[in-house]
Amino acid sequence: MHEREVITELALDYRSERIGQSCILHADCLEWLSRIPENSVHAIVTDPPYGVKEYEFDQIEKRSNGNGGIWRIPPSFDGSTRAPLPRFTALDRKERDSLRRFFVEWARVAVHALRPGGHVFFASNAFLSQLVFSALVEGGLEFRGELIRLVRTLRGGDRPKNAEQEFPGVSSMPRGCYEPWGVLRKPMPTGMKLSDCLREFQTGGLRRTPDDKPFSDVILSERTPQQERDIADHPSLKPQSFLRQVVRTVLPLGEGIIADPFMGSGSTVAAAEALGLHCIGIERYLDYYEISRVAIPKLAAVKTRLDQEWLQLPLL
Ligand SMILES: C[S@@+](CC[C@H](N)C(=O)[O-])C[C@H]1O[C@@H](n2cnc3c(N)ncnc32)[C@H](O)[C@@H]1O
Repeated sequence: MHEREVITELALDYRSERIGQSCILHADCLEWLSRIPENSVHAIVTDPPYGVKEYEFDQIEKRSNGNGGIWRIPPSFDGSTRAPLPRFTALDRKERDSLRRFFVEWARVAVHALRPGGHVFFASNAFLSQLVFSALVEGGLEFRGELIRLVRTLRGGDRPKNAEQEFPGVSSMPRGCYEPWGVLRKPMPTGMKLSDCLREFQTGGLRRTPDDKPFSDVILSERTPQQERDIADHPSLKPQSFLRQVVRTVLPLGEGIIADPFMGSGSTVAAAEALGLHCIGIERYLDYYEISRVAIPKLAAVKTRLDQEWLQLPLL
């Protein structure tokens, strides 16, 4: 069956919409991943709620009311107002344990939905990645390494709270200059060679770059440009210049279906669309789902700093 028809079938009975070669769904991804037939998708590229709780409905409300919760305004370094960021250092032991259980459960349903050898690229942060990646392995995914997105974040680097004058030469933790992405894979059947996995499932490897280099696990990235943030008002919007490289590599033969189970405003779907690939995005918060409907075609049309040198090369 052609990818277009498969994508339509994968929408099941959820509210959904086709956008170009792709599709978006309003659903809870744990439910969706467990309901679709086994071995349905070739890859997953996603940016989950890092601490799970910051995207609980009550926390999203608190953020939009400017009412605190886990969302805090980071200190201003240059006098300009910062957007709120979730504060993960606030997670206590019980919350860290529920976070672990959430990602173990998530990995189990992802393993069900993925084809053998299917890759998962999973955004995290330096503070929680160790916990999250171990949980994904506990749930059945195979750890293949990390992709480092080099980007100067606003995390860390602060002096001891309320004692800044007393300890001017001390920071509590490093200033974040990278974002770790877990690179995982659904195990290939025992004894299967990569070449056989590519033939049978079109998965298992990573696509080389258009100039015939292996995909590299460090990407010099950027903060999401204002032009893209003007299109999609989501607190965790990722830049097209980065995502287009990731969605391209996860389909080793340039064919198949990518899923983004924590779609947000649709930046992964847009990156896939920009490259003519098929992607299915799932979002459970209706406002973000609605934002994505409008944002995806616009984000897909954005020209990035990579397009000239890299992405305009033929995809074949
Ligand atoms: C970190 S954001 C992703 C943002 C995305 N990278 C973008 O560029 O817009 C995570 C998203 O997952 C959604 N989400 C959280 N739990 C979910 C679930 N169980 N099923 C589907 N979506 C969920 C949240 O509402 C949030 O929009």
